Amino acid sequence: MSNIVKTADGSNTLYSPEFKEHYHSTFGALNESMHVYIESGLKYCELKSLNIFELGFGTGLNSILTYIESIKNNLTVKYNAIELYPVKSEIISGLNYDKLFTPEEIFTFNKMHSSPWSSDINISDNFIFSKIQADFSNYTINHKYDLIYFDAFAPDVQPDLWSKKNFIKLYNALNNNGVLTTYSSKGVVKRNLRDAGFIITRLPGPNGKRHILRAEKK
Ligand SMILES: C[S@@+](CC[C@H](N)C(=O)[O-])C[C@H]1O[C@@H](n2cnc3c(N)ncnc32)[C@H](O)[C@@H]1O
Repeated sequence: MSNIVKTADGSNTLYSPEFKEHYHSTFGALNESMHVYIESGLKYCELKSLNIFELGFGTGLNSILTYIESIKNNLTVKYNAIELYPVKSEIISGLNYDKLFTPEEIFTFNKMHSSPWSSDINISDNFIFSKIQADFSNYTINHKYDLIYFDAFAPDVQPDLWSKKNFIKLYNALNNNGVLTTYSSKGVVKRNLRDAGFIITRLPGPNGKRHILRAEKK
């Protein structure tokens, strides 16, 4: 069962005793999600209409941030997230996200969490959301995506998820000029992404992290 932890920017994250891992950087959960996935992924894509795949729905922080960005910039988004170990609703409701987001945004956040698995939910006219409870390692991707948020636990802890085989699966699921962003810039991650066909750019990381990665299908 995950524990709630306060990070340096005031936003909460979770700690998983099973994996001995935090869900986000303890230097700032909100700051990290904004930097890695919104600034380096969503904004970089510059698409007005896009399909997004997230590996590791977890707290739902990336999903709500993407929704907020879609409203600000009038984006049309189809968002699919996969999660093998859903977080219990009583833990989600203990996160301090009501201090970070407006009541309308929290309503949407709760709607994402309470939505049934494997169903497309119209969060708004321009935002369709679905979550799948499955193990990404055995999961066959049936759609094409423009953007992938790769947010598994660390490569030391879940090496299988960061394998060349899984990156090939993601590469094949991307449209041309598709983008994958992730918080890890470890050597093995770079190597496996390159071997899968991606062109990699190492970007400055958020607080407390030297680098992150953007991988593109050219
Ligand atoms: C680093 S956390 C990030 C979660 C999320 N993006 C967030 O912002 O809270 C990694 C997530 O990947 C999920 N996960 C771990 N192994 C998985 C697997 N094999 N398939 C799908 N999800 C997995 C974990 O349960 C956890 O929610």
